[in-house]
Amino acid sequence: MRHLSSLADIPDMPAPSVLVPTMGALHEGHAALFRAAREIADKDGSVLASIFLNPLQFDRPDDLADYPRTLETDLALCENLGVDAVFTPSPVEFYTADHSIMVRETLLSRNLCGATRPGHFEGVCTAVLKLFHVLRPAAAVFGKKDYQQLAIIRRLVRDLSLPVDIHGIETVREPDGLALSSRNLSLDPEHRADASRIRRALLAARDLRETGEQRSEGYLQAARHHLLQDAPPGLKIDYLELVDRENLQLLPKVAGPALLATAVLYDDVRLIDNVEI
Ligand code: PAJ
Repeated sequence: MRHLSSLADIPDMPAPSVLVPTMGALHEGHAALFRAAREIADKDGSVLASIFLNPLQFDRPDDLADYPRTLETDLALCENLGVDAVFTPSPVEFYTADHSIMVRETLLSRNLCGATRPGHFEGVCTAVLKLFHVLRPAAAVFGKKDYQQLAIIRRLVRDLSLPVDIHGIETVREPDGLALSSRNLSLDPEHRADASRIRRALLAARDLRETGEQRSEGYLQAARHHLLQDAPPGLKIDYLELVDRENLQLLPKVAGPALLATAVLYDDVRLIDNVEI
């Protein structure tokens, strides 16, 4: 496996290739993306991972400071999973000191995480566009756990005519249903034990489909009920929304492909999850 720690290493990149962008602190969710990338790349293509803790997408400085940094074990995981090259630029090299261009999405980023994390998706789009430019992958793989991010990247590619195929991968979960995330490690034990309620609440709401329920409010009420019933102190719903799966706009009724998405706070640990309806 090649380790490219600088932009200067890029000209020898193997192509065509499938890119998995990450911020490190890798877990089995990322591993599923690397495995999917390997299948998409097939025998002749190569799998690239980027590990870049992108400062532009953090709206709170303490959130960036607290983000786990585990480069050695991350590189070992990539090596074990047959990743061909890992790109780990430093922020100082990646962004010119006085850089002044940002990529702003203006519709899909208004709801869900975009509403409570100002500037977050601008930071994501700017970093991902730049990664696509410098690494020139033929395809890139993203997780459906961050569904809004995936939908926005699809828009980025569509609206700026980028020659990159985007693949969305199912969320990898703990045995109790909690979506894998580096943030799970920050939960206190009582909250960790409780956090499986997020998945249960979303599934209970989704099951209303079988009753022929069409009103979004019906689904939202069911999910809210399961999220809050006998909830431990410290649990708060940051958002719970039912949106169109492609443009992420609020839906009054469920007629076509919809997404029920939530962010839940356990004290200051914020967990997100979603289910397709
Ligand atoms: P990061 O949080 O490291 O996630 C990298 C990729 O892993 C994302 O596509 C995310 O959706 C996926 N992922 C995380 N947890 C997952 C899980 N439990 N199951 C499946 N996939 C999962 O998302 C980012 O980094 C950044 O915003 C980035 C796209 C790299 C831009 O900086």
